[in-house]
Amino acid sequence: FPSRALEGLRLVITAGPTREAIDPVRFIGNHSSGKMGFALARAAIEAGATVTLVAGPVHLDTPERATRIDVESARDMLSACHSACHQADIFIACAAVADYRPVTVADHKLKKQGDSGLTIELTQNPDIVATISKEFPSLYTVGFAAETQHVLEHAREKRIRKQLDLIIANDVGNDAVFGQDHNSVIIIGSELELHLPEASKLDVARTCINELAKEYRRTH
Ligand code: C5P
Repeated sequence: FPSRALEGLRLVITAGPTREAIDPVRFIGNHSSGKMGFALARAAIEAGATVTLVAGPVHLDTPERATRIDVESARDMLSACHSACHQADIFIACAAVADYRPVTVADHKLKKQGDSGLTIELTQNPDIVATISKEFPSLYTVGFAAETQHVLEHAREKRIRKQLDLIIANDVGNDAVFGQDHNSVIIIGSELELHLPEASKLDVARTCINELAKEYRRTH
């Protein structure tokens, strides 16, 4: 990576799913592979950044020279990000955070209750990127928006609502993103709308990092 566009900058990147415990052996999770977040970490390091990767449970090797913090739940991810962001210039939220968690976690493995069903009450998780953005107003924050319809409209609204500098939107309506090696995205800022062609997640990550660096340098 010739440009070293992020030389001297410190990034915190979230990646992968979160797991919300139901009991000691069960959880609510999702199919996020973490590939995009790990590719962003690798691309940022290639561009000269110092990277802390806050990772949910994934089956991926740590990118060379990244500092990796493994977490399980959304609340664990938020507290890890909170600590790491005191020393950061840029925060990229790429994780697929569970929106809800069980209100209580059973101490023991839940037993099957005769023939009746089971209801698990859920409560909302904190929004990590919105919380971090609010708490660290001078931190440059970047979010992702996986949308199935009205991609641009929803992503633009999300960028404003969560107070993000940039949002990277992708259309996941066709099942072609989760766990796959390819991705095509749109980078949206206050005066930016950049449609990237479909490419490998690493190439998309390199382009995103390059564009992000340009935007960051332009405004700082
Ligand atoms: O609202 P939605 O989940 O579509 O927003 C996606 C963006 O918000 C991603 O950047 C994701 O990492 C972040 N997010 C978060 N904490 C949550 C939910 C989403 O940081 N609880």
